[in-house]
Amino acid sequence: MTRIIVLPDADAVARHVAASIARWLEQGLSERGQAHLALGGGRTPATVHAYLAPLIADWSNVELWLGDERVGDPQHPETVVERNIDLVRETLVERIGTCVGAVHAVPDGSPQDAAAHYGREMDARLPAGRLDVAYLGLGEDGHTASLFPNAPQLRLATLGCVAVLDAPKVPAFRVTMTLGTLRRARYLVVAATGRAKAEAVAHIVGGCDQSVPASLLGESLTELVIDDLAASCISRP
Ligand code: 6PG
Repeated sequence: MTRIIVLPDADAVARHVAASIARWLEQGLSERGQAHLALGGGRTPATVHAYLAPLIADWSNVELWLGDERVGDPQHPETVVERNIDLVRETLVERIGTCVGAVHAVPDGSPQDAAAHYGREMDARLPAGRLDVAYLGLGEDGHTASLFPNAPQLRLATLGCVAVLDAPKVPAFRVTMTLGTLRRARYLVVAATGRAKAEAVAHIVGGCDQSVPASLLGESLTELVIDDLAASCISRP
């Protein structure tokens, strides 16, 4: 059962998400001696990362992953792509100061090769294919990670990750964890703020729909954390 948490503004959303991520990472560290955290891109994560960095005393057994990554067009390798890994490095890893267990970047190369390589890395490092935490954003069109409306990747039942060659959001070439892997995370959270996300939020609350990929996280979504504006199309208690 997904908990829907509505907070007054984007800052309160970021604080809540950071504190919850930290609790689940600490739980992984105390129960299994390691913890695995998948992060994404977009504008929202920077503030979450800023709050999260000081909440974990020792990051040396925490491994960072990307729920999705943007990759270059194999036909035009000269095109500069804003990578999610750079956001993670600049807004989280640099703030941590001490060493992090590992930062798993998606390698360069064709999206298919990069996805295959990342999948093997996940098989090798992720115990039972389970992330402790997957923290995802939400697009206005309902996409999450790089799972876009009605995309063929939504029908995959496999664990691991997969290439995306025609994302409707720039850049078109991406690698994304599958729904199966995201759903297996112990704490799966989607955070969304602002009025532009309100319709997508209402669709998630409305039930599973291939045209709103985030809704397919279903009951595995532990928390949907939104601000008042993003909650403007749902009925509130
Ligand atoms: C990406 C993403 C994507 C993002 C959402 C929300 O690489 O573009 O991982 O899924 O999280 O589009 O982005 P905002 O935080 O900018 O609204």
